[in-house]
Amino acid sequence: MGKSSKDKRDAYYRLAKEQGWRARSAFKLLQLDEEFNLFEGVTRVVDLCAAPGSWSQVLSRVLIKGEKFGRTAWQDREAKFRQQVLNVFGPEPTPSPHAAPTTTSAVPTSSDELKPRRDVKIVSIDLQPISPLPGIITLRADITHPATVPLLLKALDPDYNPSSSSQQASQPVDLVISDGAPDVTGLHDLDIYVQSQLLFAALNLALCVLKPGGKFVAKIFRGRNVDLLYAQLKIFFEKVHVAKPRSSRASSVEAFIVCINFQPPAGFKASLENPLGVGDRLSQFTPTPPPAEPLMQDHATGAWSYTPQHQQQTDGDGIYDVSVTDLTTGNKRKDHIRWIAPFVACGDLSAFDSDASYTLPEDYVSLDPVQPPTAPPYKRAIELRRANGGAYGKTQTQQAKS
Ligand SMILES: C[S@@+](CC[C@H](N)C(=O)[O-])C[C@H]1O[C@@H](n2cnc3c(N)ncnc32)[C@H](O)[C@@H]1O
Repeated sequence: MGKSSKDKRDAYYRLAKEQGWRARSAFKLLQLDEEFNLFEGVTRVVDLCAAPGSWSQVLSRVLIKGEKFGRTAWQDREAKFRQQVLNVFGPEPTPSPHAAPTTTSAVPTSSDELKPRRDVKIVSIDLQPISPLPGIITLRADITHPATVPLLLKALDPDYNPSSSSQQASQPVDLVISDGAPDVTGLHDLDIYVQSQLLFAALNLALCVLKPGGKFVAKIFRGRNVDLLYAQLKIFFEKVHVAKPRSSRASSVEAFIVCINFQPPAGFKASLENPLGVGDRLSQFTPTPPPAEPLMQDHATGAWSYTPQHQQQTDGDGIYDVSVTDLTTGNKRKDHIRWIAPFVACGDLSAFDSDASYTLPEDYVSLDPVQPPTAPPYKRAIELRRANGGAYGKTQTQQAKS
């Protein structure tokens, strides 16, 4: 298979190399921002599971350099278009046929349009080393390990005393993002379980460092019982959405939860000694059922309405008892409902389809990745293969003969 085969099959892989992103994941964050305006008013961010660092690159370019992507770039383009229609400016230059058709194209912002933000702090953490990015603090640590909390708090506030028992940031952050993924085994249930552990580790860290009003964005694998997770998140955030960027393959169970407006319940104290886990603490911190805004799932076949004043919480597993009235018979009955987060597909509809193959120009030259992995999990396997005679397991004698 030629070097450009993956370039054809994966438009975002190719675009990432062309636009200087370390990974195609950059487009996922940019498309989430297009929908949710994630970076508005944001100066302090924690990027969890950040290697090789494309999300950190996005943060660096938006917050430190002041470039415009995602939502702000889209708004800018719209404003320019309106002005063009009003004939204030001359005609827009015709876009190149090979340019990415969305706001995710990294058209360099001219230096007079750059708006760097002040007092930016970005801390990025991963198990793997992250090659340095100017202005970003990188930590090599395991987000599931309690020892990572003081490391993170120290990075956020150099005056933090690690021997103090506090696990709360004195200078909290506006946004926590996590793209954490385990090495996928292919065993669906196991992968989903390990991923959910990473998600809870990210959430527990976020609860220690987020300021009220802050946002939390994290990768999830949509499996059974994911609605329990949504119900848990709804305890801490005003709005919880599930989002699927166009750059995330439709065939993959991957999606992102986007949680807006952090509002911890009264009495809640984040603690890694007593971390939040699957299904935990729902009853403890939900004196009232979730607001009526979310969609309700009907487990019965007939039409029904629910009467919120009759809602009662059950034993804290995210399932709520409601008194429902069957509209056809008028009979009242008890039913179980779960809270379901709104699902949003994001990214411009004209954006590349991550499941499609695209033909490339005849003279197309395939580029090397911007940042090859510094310490990939398969590094040892490559070393062993080399020691055993090189590529495809051939011994040195076999290679010499061939
Ligand atoms: C999909 S990659 C992240 C890509 C990154 N957002 C980017 O844009 O370059 C998932 C990362 O999760 C990291 N990871 C998995 N488990 C982790 C853990 N327990 N602690 C820290 N990082 C972890 C992996 O090392 C891997 O780099």
